[in-house]
Amino acid sequence: MITNLHKPIMVNEILSFINDEKELSILDCTFGGGGHAKNFLDKGHYVTAIDQDKNAINAAEDLSKSNSNLSFYKINFKDLDKIDEKKIHEKFNFILLDLGFSSNQLENENIGISFKINSKLNMNYLDGGVTAHEIINNYNIDELTRIFQEYGEITHSKKLSEFIIKARTKKIINTNFELIEVIRNSGINFRSKKIHFATQVFQALRIETNKEINNLNNFLHKVHSFIEKKGYLAIISFHSLEDRVVKNYFKSNSFNKKYIFNNNLDWGYEILTKKPLTPSKSEIKQNNRARSAKLRVGRFVN
Ligand SMILES: C[S@@+](CC[C@H](N)C(=O)[O-])C[C@H]1O[C@@H](n2cnc3c(N)ncnc32)[C@H](O)[C@@H]1O
Repeated sequence: MITNLHKPIMVNEILSFINDEKELSILDCTFGGGGHAKNFLDKGHYVTAIDQDKNAINAAEDLSKSNSNLSFYKINFKDLDKIDEKKIHEKFNFILLDLGFSSNQLENENIGISFKINSKLNMNYLDGGVTAHEIINNYNIDELTRIFQEYGEITHSKKLSEFIIKARTKKIINTNFELIEVIRNSGINFRSKKIHFATQVFQALRIETNKEINNLNNFLHKVHSFIEKKGYLAIISFHSLEDRVVKNYFKSNSFNKKYIFNNNLDWGYEILTKKPLTPSKSEIKQNNRARSAKLRVGRFVN
């Protein structure tokens, strides 16, 4: 039995877009601990699930024991078109993207994305690729400044990069606690007193190591080929950079009722969430991770 720490987010809001009367074909692109998938399966739907993290395979095997309507593929969702030869032509009634990392990954000391657990600098929760150790100890001043600016929206990115480079020439920065000390000593005032002062730096490193924005853009570029007519695309994001990408995607591909496609193509989305939906107060109380979630949903029209 595998301990699953992850609680699925905004389940009721997501289920409210799903028609229970029919058996639907659902694509869960961020399977994680299988929380959302289990809810779909319990309602009798078919779930094709994707996750790049090898640990998700265990959760999928567990869930498959009680449910034969689940198929799992360990791939990056940016490679959606490579699921397998048979699936390429399948279209889905509902596609879900629940972005970022799971609570299981947050608590995993080999990944080290938590401020609370001292671990080797890694931050890669997607099984491979560049690590935060390589970035912090090898990136040059321009590369470091770019990621802190673009992905952390840190005002004094260059000053911070210079400070890190000075610190690492004295001693390699090996752990996330060592990195937190360097950030603390940099003398830079970070954005908000409400969040941990290292939040923006950790966010920037996480986005760079896992290529979060590139993955999302690549996925959005191709996802329309996989949605059934009148099917839904639902995306939960957890930081403003991702939410901006999702919002702009729906906006530039929106369809209005006068039969006009915004993108000059023969498909678009009816936007069902003018403003993103957010979790209820009681959900946030029970699951602190939900506090920054934003859900946007579009109905596919072609
Ligand atoms: C927030 S968790 C999803 C939790 C899941 N909905 C549940 O209820 O258990 C996000 C998951 O997406 C996976 N993930 C993130 N980016 C990915 C990508 N580009 N390709 C494949 N999986 C990805 C992570 O490994 C993680 O397991």
